[in-house]
Amino acid sequence: MNVLIFGAAGMLGSDLRATIPAGVTVTGIDIGEADITDRAQVASALEAIRPDWVINAAAYTAVDRAETDRAAAEAVNTVGPRFIAQEAARWNIAVAHFSTDYVFPGTADAPYRESDPVAPINAYGDTKWQGEEAVRASGAHALILRTQWLFGVAGKSFPRLMWERALARVPTRVVDDQRGRPTYTRDLAAATWKLVTQRASGTIHVTNGGAPAAWYDVAREVFARAGADGLLSACSTADYPTPARRPAYSVLSTERLESRLGAPLPEWRDALGRFLDELTASSP
Ligand SMILES: NC(=O)c1ccc[n+]([C@@H]2O[C@H](COP(=O)([O-])OP(=O)(O)OC[C@H]3O[C@@H](n4cnc5c(N)ncnc54)[C@H](OP(=O)(O)O)[C@@H]3O)[C@@H](O)[C@H]2O)c1
Repeated sequence: MNVLIFGAAGMLGSDLRATIPAGVTVTGIDIGEADITDRAQVASALEAIRPDWVINAAAYTAVDRAETDRAAAEAVNTVGPRFIAQEAARWNIAVAHFSTDYVFPGTADAPYRESDPVAPINAYGDTKWQGEEAVRASGAHALILRTQWLFGVAGKSFPRLMWERALARVPTRVVDDQRGRPTYTRDLAAATWKLVTQRASGTIHVTNGGAPAAWYDVAREVFARAGADGLLSACSTADYPTPARRPAYSVLSTERLESRLGAPLPEWRDALGRFLDELTASSP
């Protein structure tokens, strides 16, 4: 199987390249080779490679900046995926695309299912929802994977920031009233390859397993590992205002994923431990 990845240099893109299964040939490109907001560049990449699947890991992920820079977010998160999926449909190429828990309002008290009504909580979430819809409308064989709270060695993330602060012994306050499930891009990438290999389609939620967490719980694991527990304290969302709204509860139900793969992804604490192992092994 031949696969083209857009956004291959990003956090998830890097782990997709690190977990390529046997029998799959990958061409990974990023904005330097093809800008997904330019239809002609998308078309010529697809035409040159003629893959069986295209995986779109490119995105505008600056959630707070998207509030005031909506046009840029929309170009990458809505228009780019539309170009990719429409061009893919012309060549009968299947599409895998990623979306976010921020398509939901975040006011639930039980995990969101794929079929639950959306109401994006912020501008970024809205551009990602429009991107999902554009991919669905394209007519291409489409797999849309919604995920959340990503961390991986090839990008910036909350666990990495916490690790840096804990090592530098910086006192840190973290919100304890937003709940979700942290997700390791290494595990998300492995699940993506399984679903692509199964030729799955439709919308599927993919996150690490385990009990839902608050950001504070994640930070506590990281600070404990660095031997800096005493430097961490909890605060509320009201104490930590951000330009973009964040959901109080945006846990994604992964039942559909579990029935496709036969098991949930590893628990997030296990994933976080492996991430910190990888981070420490790769630091100078
Ligand atoms: N990070 C999270 O917590 C999170 C949560 C839920 C869902 N997701 C979704 O998961 C997917 C992967 O996210 P990620 O965190 O791995 O993203 P990322 O690290 O920001 O990587 C995105 C990649 O896309 C590239 N890119 C940006 N604009 C482009 C364009 N116009 N054409 C081609 N490439 C472009 C970026 O290049 P530059 O770096 O040069 O801009 C970067 O290499 C995205 O769909 C994201 O929306 C992420």
